[in-house]
Amino acid sequence: MNKSSLSESEQQLLEVATQALTKAYAPYSQFRVGAALLTTTGKIYAGCNIENVSYGLGVCAERNAIANAMIAEGGYTIEIKAIAVTNSQNVPCSPCGACRQVIWEFGKQTQIIFLGSQGWQNLTIKELLPEGFTEFAL
Ligand code: THU
Repeated sequence: MNKSSLSESEQQLLEVATQALTKAYAPYSQFRVGAALLTTTGKIYAGCNIENVSYGLGVCAERNAIANAMIAEGGYTIEIKAIAVTNSQNVPCSPCGACRQVIWEFGKQTQIIFLGSQGWQNLTIKELLPEGFTEFAL
């Protein structure tokens, strides 16, 4: 879909994500990513990717947004209603597999807004991560 077809609050979340990507530390890939999440209590938290010279230690924008929310709110409290992801190249970029599992931890019904190969998407975490790992049957 076109960006203008997304709801106002989804577009607002994308704007916060786009502001956050300006803070990315991405000297190795030059690919800046921003993420903004909305909690079920109506608060918005942002994150960006932070890379490392030991490449595997880099952390994605989505997981940093979640860490930001957890630090601000205290453990066990957040539930993610929606998370928007943008990047500096305006190319398709959906959350990586590791981030999907971490989003799933904090929101079983999270909406994920991102630019997919067919345009803007608003999919649920269950669509992006069917059968996410859990220790217990939910
Ligand atoms: N990256 C993210 O921050 N989020 C994604 O959803 C995909 C990839 C980052 C990791 C790395 O810093 C850079 O993008 C290039 O892969």
